[in-house]
Amino acid sequence: MRMSELPPAQIPLHETADVVTARRAARELCEQLGFGKADQTRLATAVSELTRNVIQYANHGECVIENRSTATHRCIWVQVRDQGAGIANLEQALTDGYSTSGGLGAGLPGTRRLVDQFHIESTPQGTCITIVLTKPL
Ligand SMILES: Nc1ncnc2c1ncn2[C@@H]1O[C@H](COP(=O)(O)OP(=O)(O)OP(=O)(O)O)[C@@H](O)[C@H]1O
Ligand SMILES: [Mg+2]
Repeated sequence: MRMSELPPAQIPLHETADVVTARRAARELCEQLGFGKADQTRLATAVSELTRNVIQYANHGECVIENRSTATHRCIWVQVRDQGAGIANLEQALTDGYSTSGGLGAGLPGTRRLVDQFHIESTPQGTCITIVLTKPL
């Protein structure tokens, strides 16, 4: 299969085991596209944190992983979304140490630092986070 023909993965998130599935899928696509080990770990960690949040705060959702590589760049696009209650204060949630569950509060701010693009939308109807990892060919 050519690189550009790798199909997108759509991973339902219902339980903790699905976090592992999403994490692994992200790492595998990363490896198939020729990203190095450090990039594979960056993306796997980011996907792990975002999908873990979905299970923890929204119960269920989904993770879509797409190869968006071009003639000049390797590119992986990931969207993690749910229809939970949303994040009331985004600015706070993106601050190191802020957690409503007694966690470290490192998931969202850490993820933002790991990836090349980070976009978050959250309303009382749900949360949608898009991340991109990219590297010149
Ligand atoms: N998908 C989501 N839906 C609703 N609230 C969320 C979601 N993701 C994160 N949050 C809120 O944002 C806060 C910060 O998330 P973050 O992942 O940074 O920290 P944490 O999950 O509390 O702790 P850690 O990830 O370090 O274990 C959470 O405590 C929670 O209140
Ligand atoms: Mg978290």
